[in-house]
Amino acid sequence: MQKGLTNLNRYLLEEQRKYPHATGDFTTIIEQIAFASKIISREVNKAGIVNILGKAQSVNVHGEDQQKLDVYSNEKMISAMEHLGKLCAMGSEECEDIVPIPDRYPKGKYVVVFDPLDGSSNIDVNISIGTIFGVYRAVTEGNKGTVEDFLQPGRNLVAAGYVIYGSSTMLVYSAGNGVSGFTLDPSVGEFLLSHENIRIPEKGKIYSFNEANFEKWTPEIQRYVRDLRTKSDRTYTGRYIGSLVADFHRNLLKGGVFAYPGDTSNPKGKLRLLYEAAPLAYIVEKAGGAAIDGINDILDIKPEGIHQRTPLIIGSKHEVELYRKYMKGEA
Ligand code: AHG
Ligand code: MN
Ligand code: MN
Repeated sequence: MQKGLTNLNRYLLEEQRKYPHATGDFTTIIEQIAFASKIISREVNKAGIVNILGKAQSVNVHGEDQQKLDVYSNEKMISAMEHLGKLCAMGSEECEDIVPIPDRYPKGKYVVVFDPLDGSSNIDVNISIGTIFGVYRAVTEGNKGTVEDFLQPGRNLVAAGYVIYGSSTMLVYSAGNGVSGFTLDPSVGEFLLSHENIRIPEKGKIYSFNEANFEKWTPEIQRYVRDLRTKSDRTYTGRYIGSLVADFHRNLLKGGVFAYPGDTSNPKGKLRLLYEAAPLAYIVEKAGGAAIDGINDILDIKPEGIHQRTPLIIGSKHEVELYRKYMKGEA
């Protein structure tokens, strides 16, 4: 399709036409997530001017200080979707329990999980941050919207994506038929197709680890990183922003591996399976890459709880599969 002149709505409709039985529910959900992200983008881009920087006087379910924009973004995501009649509940990093659909609105057959603002500790220093989302079909009868609808492996995702609020605001998503990127043109308020059928390079030259944790990693992980630095047939360069969406997006386009492994203080790592690892694992696999917890594919892991953490190694197939070999003692 013609870049620059294809807006997200047109793209979604043309994709929808490929599925004769499509009801358009899903198209509506993505359009509303895009709408919420435009509102968030506006606030992120003027955060320095209005009093929305800094900490909200609250902590989230993980005991982490909530940034004002975390709370704001969470509210915008919920209010953009709760009235649609397409969802029976939502799951958010910022909410301890699943978010029910108010009785005044009809319910639908989907659930949406999201991290409304990822990398929020970077807001005040103007580093790229993002929103991550995933869409599942509910599995409980009658659209009741129970936690069971959320404890599905990422393999069951019907769509996933993220928005990166960076030098430009981009929405990247897949509904299973390739990965496409849309860049927000603020002058018209539209996401315009800019990256059709994104494919991650088979092999990269970038590795993204927080090496401050090096001493807390297992010997296998330490050996993997040391070998990338010394033994690799191509020189790898280290790039670590500390904002998952920004690190992931760069590696998706350029190739490379991002890892937040478990360590002695956080055996399960820091990142959450449901609304950080699984949606990005869905995207990377649809783009030809891979995502594991060290041994297992992320998409095969069935969550036991909506805030369950997982180690995450994600990116180009070569570097991820090599990591799996190191963990299995095969390299
Ligand atoms: P969030 O802001 O949603 O809590 O996520 C922050 C995550 C992720 O964005 C990033 O990759 C990671 O925290 C960075 O953690 P470290 O600062 O420990 O490296
Ligand atoms: Mn996050
Ligand atoms: Mn977050």
